[in-house]
Amino acid sequence: MRILLASSEVYPYSKTGGLGDAVGALGKALATEGHHVGIITPLYRGIREKLSGLRRVDWKFDLPLGTKRVTAELFALDVSTRLTIYFIDKPAYFDRPGIYNDNGSDYADNAERFIFLSKCVVNLARHLPFKPDVLHLHDWPVGMAALMVQHEAKTSVWDNRPRVCCTIHNLAYQGVFPGSAFSLLNLPASWFTADTTEFYGQINCLKTGIACADAVTTVSPRYAREITTQEYGAGLDGLLRKRQNVLTGILNGVDYEEWNTISNPCLAASFSADNMSGKAICKSALQERFGLTVDSHIPLFGTVTRLADQKGIDLLLTVLNEMISEGIQFVMLGSGAKHYEELSVRMAERNSTKVGVQIGYDHALAHQIEAGCDFYLMPSRFEPCGLNQLYSLRYGTIPIVRRTGGLDDTVIDAVDGGVAANGIKFGDPTPSGLTKAIRKSLTLFENKELMTHYRIQGIAADFSWEQSVRAYERVYKDEL
Ligand code: ADP
Ligand code: GLC
Repeated sequence: MRILLASSEVYPYSKTGGLGDAVGALGKALATEGHHVGIITPLYRGIREKLSGLRRVDWKFDLPLGTKRVTAELFALDVSTRLTIYFIDKPAYFDRPGIYNDNGSDYADNAERFIFLSKCVVNLARHLPFKPDVLHLHDWPVGMAALMVQHEAKTSVWDNRPRVCCTIHNLAYQGVFPGSAFSLLNLPASWFTADTTEFYGQINCLKTGIACADAVTTVSPRYAREITTQEYGAGLDGLLRKRQNVLTGILNGVDYEEWNTISNPCLAASFSADNMSGKAICKSALQERFGLTVDSHIPLFGTVTRLADQKGIDLLLTVLNEMISEGIQFVMLGSGAKHYEELSVRMAERNSTKVGVQIGYDHALAHQIEAGCDFYLMPSRFEPCGLNQLYSLRYGTIPIVRRTGGLDDTVIDAVDGGVAANGIKFGDPTPSGLTKAIRKSLTLFENKELMTHYRIQGIAADFSWEQSVRAYERVYKDEL
């Protein structure tokens, strides 16, 4: 098939979290399976300098955006014969320090920036020589494209318009803007309705994608069920129940070429299920890196995360503050909400040989934490899929997760899986729920044989993309 993906983040060109990982790896996996794949994304600051193979495409965007016309250029990178990345070059919108925000505040013109991106996506889907069978939109930044395709197909001749699939990576981010931003779409007011763009007088980009796409997916089966409930539906559960017949949960896979413990330049040593000695070297290197006491007998917990309420950071900090005196260590790499940044830095300052915190984004350190820790903490309040627990499993680091969304679908607790267990799960999103789970892990840590068994089970778990690609193919062909 010919498949065009569109996303505001695509690893390795841009990433703030799992969206970039998931879209970059999905594109690569679809091409490996023999599909012809294009991915449309903005040319952000710094990308051009890193890519020597970038070529200018003879294509000019000149599109209406409210009362203005906005122009942009197009660059392409041929990653392989079947995978091309299309970069939208519009420096006024995309040559900025951040993708969505800078210093904690969202860019004031995000509606304009991402509605323009959505217009470029539709323009390319329609006019590229490569006529896609499927246009696959990811998250709110390109959600409006689903409506634009519908509108264009209804009002002008667009033979064989692509089937449109919209994937929800996180319902917590919907792209809601004042109603006045509707004019940026240049569409008739008849589209400003409660079953398309309108959301309590405002416009909602993700809602529009969900309402107008031919197929809707999200990134785990359990999250697909959760979001149809009021508790997890973030105000869109009614619409999601209405669209339940086209809604599917497909787990993200892992790019094991990127996330591997054998030939990984980020790691101090290689290791595998057959030979774990390298993991001990990774642990002591990590303890040293953060100035902690270097001792293999001390259980080391870690996390790499956006510091957002979603991730249960409040629970984590409350519980660790109480437990850190009990002979454990903790390392964290993260950035996000200022109050969480400050609280965690303070915890590290108070416990310098036991707690290490680095604020910021650091790709190599993310790998080092995944590899060097004994346990990976992910007490999310909700988690559409979660990739870090999958990386932990492959790195022989035992995940401690809350029973929600993709965490519940991917980690096996002894209570449910007996000898197949590879992690620890807890249900209550409370300090006592997490404390109990950490206490279980400390008992496990005392039993070296069982620890090794859990690790080997985790390393053997296979979350490669093949199965997920098969599921997407069924969605693309309308076979579900
Ligand atoms: P989410 O997308 O909700 O943030 P995921 O678990 O799906 O959560 O994916 C997070 C991805 O972002 C992982 O690849 C993780 O390593 C990476 N990541 C998150 N925060 C940082 C950081 N501060 N530095 C480096 N990588 C990070
Ligand atoms: C989102 C979700 C995360 C998911 C990622 C990739 O950011 O929070 O759970 O793994 O998207 O789909």
